[in-house]
Amino acid sequence: MTGSTAQPHVLLVGCGNMGGAMLKGWLQEGKYRISVIDPHPAPENTKRDDLEIYTSADDFSQNGTQADIVILAVKPQILADVAPSIVPCLTEDTIILSIAAGQPIKTLENLFGAQHKIIRSMPNTPSQIGRGMTVLSPNGLCDEHAVALAEELMSSIGDVLVIEDETLMNAVTAVSGSGPAYVFLLIEALESAAISAGLSEETARRLARRTITGSAALAAANDDTDAATLRQNVTSPGGTTEAALDILMEPQSGLVDLMDRAVQNAVQRGIDLGKKDT
Ligand SMILES: NC(=O)c1ccc[n+]([C@@H]2O[C@H](COP(=O)([O-])OP(=O)(O)OC[C@H]3O[C@@H](n4cnc5c(N)ncnc54)[C@H](OP(=O)(O)O)[C@@H]3O)[C@@H](O)[C@H]2O)c1
Repeated sequence: MTGSTAQPHVLLVGCGNMGGAMLKGWLQEGKYRISVIDPHPAPENTKRDDLEIYTSADDFSQNGTQADIVILAVKPQILADVAPSIVPCLTEDTIILSIAAGQPIKTLENLFGAQHKIIRSMPNTPSQIGRGMTVLSPNGLCDEHAVALAEELMSSIGDVLVIEDETLMNAVTAVSGSGPAYVFLLIEALESAAISAGLSEETARRLARRTITGSAALAAANDDTDAATLRQNVTSPGGTTEAALDILMEPQSGLVDLMDRAVQNAVQRGIDLGKKDT
């Protein structure tokens, strides 16, 4: 640790939706010394005495303090513009953890220096309510301590998994990164089908949303049970659920095949976008 105590010093760059969600968790845990760089800090944060707020990276670096880990939580589009101002905030020991979607380790090394311990991460939108799924991919310089600190920090917004092979981040992005959109589409589709079946818009909206959030919570509460078993548990032979599943599970045109093609398409898009970036 660069600080005088064993309390890690975390520098958060960008305190919007995701940065703000992480910050909330870290403040509750009270384990870290936290500095934030954001041009327009939230008024409630500027009043806290357990937080150091800077409106620019220059203010932070001129202050002479050093962070153990820098969390990059600005929009991917501005990362390259922000990087030169962050470089003076780094020492050779500073760990860099980026949550910027789709930014490969190679791009981060080009922006901040390949001599740094760099971790690329892919959180998803439920992170905003502490129910996220984040996958971390460290570069070759990261040691156990760096990965453990990153895991600990990201666990403030949900579940965390480390995947060493960065090439799998396209698959991760296609599943957990983009996945919330697939679930929202499922809500939309069920709502629309409910209206077609004669229910009012209000009832359709309520039934579709509650069914999907309730089923997701049930799956989460039975983590050791396969999704297929949970499905079979609500499917009586010859019953109404089975009638619907006969359509949803049709070979070639059913949901399983559709999801497979959708995820493959997202993986391919990730590969193509990655070629442009590097
Ligand atoms: N939202 C999600 O659920 C989600 C999911 C996966 C990944 N991510 C990633 O998380 C990152 C942040 O997304 P977000 O939704 O939290 O964006 P956001 O709400 O726009 O937050 C970004 C923050 O960065 C601030 N900022 C702008 N320029 C800055 C600078 N030079 N130095 C420091 N801070 C600066 C912005 O301030 P102003 O608003 O005043 O410009 C804003 O407060 C993105 O890279 C995104 O890809 C987000």
